[in-house]
Amino acid sequence: MALTEKDLKHLPEDGIDSENPGKYRNLLNDLQGNILKGHGRDHSVHLFLQFKPEQVEVVKQWIQNFAQTYITSAKKQSDEAFKYRQKGIPGQVFGNFFLSRHGYEYLEIEPFQIPGDKPFRMGMKNEEIRTSLGDPKIETWDIGFQNEIHALILLADDDIIDLLQIVNQMTQELRLIAEIVHREDGFILRNQSGQIIEHFGFVDGVSQPLFMKRDVVKERVNNCDFDKWDPKAPLDSILVEDPNGNTKDSYGSYLVYRKLEQNVKAFREDQRKLAQKLNIQENLAGALIVGRFPDGTPVTLSDIPTYAVTPTNNFNYDNDLAATKCPFHSHTRKTNPRGDTARLLTADAHFDEAFKEEKGHRITRRAVSYGENNPNKEPVLGSGLLFLCFQSNIENQFNFIQSRWANPQNFVQVNTGPDPLIGQPSGTQKWPKKWGEPETEEYNFKLWINMKGGEYFFAPSISFLKTL
Ligand code: HEM
Repeated sequence: MALTEKDLKHLPEDGIDSENPGKYRNLLNDLQGNILKGHGRDHSVHLFLQFKPEQVEVVKQWIQNFAQTYITSAKKQSDEAFKYRQKGIPGQVFGNFFLSRHGYEYLEIEPFQIPGDKPFRMGMKNEEIRTSLGDPKIETWDIGFQNEIHALILLADDDIIDLLQIVNQMTQELRLIAEIVHREDGFILRNQSGQIIEHFGFVDGVSQPLFMKRDVVKERVNNCDFDKWDPKAPLDSILVEDPNGNTKDSYGSYLVYRKLEQNVKAFREDQRKLAQKLNIQENLAGALIVGRFPDGTPVTLSDIPTYAVTPTNNFNYDNDLAATKCPFHSHTRKTNPRGDTARLLTADAHFDEAFKEEKGHRITRRAVSYGENNPNKEPVLGSGLLFLCFQSNIENQFNFIQSRWANPQNFVQVNTGPDPLIGQPSGTQKWPKKWGEPETEEYNFKLWINMKGGEYFFAPSISFLKTL
């Protein structure tokens, strides 16, 4: 029996058990990996393709072969992870294949069969989209991203030599059917404790919507039974039916891809200046910017880092309604307000409904770093985050977070200021002189992230790609 609307709206209490998937088996077999759970490989290569004119049949054949050989299904990904845990046998190179709207058109898919999300159909270069996100002019993007992009291939492995060998071989093959208009090489950046960080030095990827049992159970043990924050999310927040799927449970997901260059040196200098102005420690200034200390401790819970091996995600802002501990403008509070905007929307009687709506904006992040791989260096140019996130509705999820929460001056209160990490353009925020006291100081923390290009994609079901 096919999955029902109810199955998509309600995740099982413990999430989907990939080892005994029951009614989710068909879904996991036909869905690409890296969506419901990150692929977890240390290295990845992203190839952006523009197919050659009038080669449609050859291109279709090539994609079918790629799907047979390289695309890793959600089921295969978890089976390989199981084998690795049990016997230490590493999985094969991991593969994803994504199409843009132009890609669907190239493949001569009927317009009504092209995934219908509005921003996906408009594309990231569309002027209306660009201005609503506050993105820089297309002429300033990396040249490769300025091209019309049809498809994105993601290949990943822990062994960089094996990975580059496969990429080289594939690059040769691809020459016959496509131009590789752009390439990005990503990796997992780690701090000295081995935790995953981003270039500014903060632990990243802590708070994510969870779907799979292994993740849910692990996080429940670490996070006191989710009494303050439940990270589980329904499947309909990340999956949509693939209009071209060939099985009864063929699903896909929309991918937002953005190359975000980080000026680490300038960010750290600005962080120092903010600390001086407020007369506080630099790491507390960083926590007021991000919402968490570099080690991941949420600043709404503590004014010092606690150095927990696994930073907590079991918190909300209920004990900090005036935002004297964690500013409303901080990156984590603006991108996941944990009830702040729901409280505004409604009287208490309808809070649950408004909270559900607010949680409906969540995205599933699958970002990796690029550029300098030494966390002790402070790059100015050429390093940053390859920001990838999955969702079922781009307008209501990524675009909403960026344009309605991160960028605006007003958020929950008037004159909150933009998110100091990603708000475009930058502006003045109010900051507390002392943790736990009202925000009285004004400071314009500049935007040290530069958007270098990107595109919207769809991750089609594997059965579609195998039978193009
Ligand atoms: C959380 C950094 C871009 C959305 C975080 C965290 C860090 C971080 C350090 C805290 C760790 C965690 O909870 O996982 C960055 C950097 C970025 C960037 C350095 C750019 C270079 C973005 C963008 C968005 C975004 C563009 C979406 C518009 C989120 C969300 C969370 C988060 C939803 C989780 C908040 C929560 O649930 O508490 N980010 N981020 N980030 N970020 Fe970003």
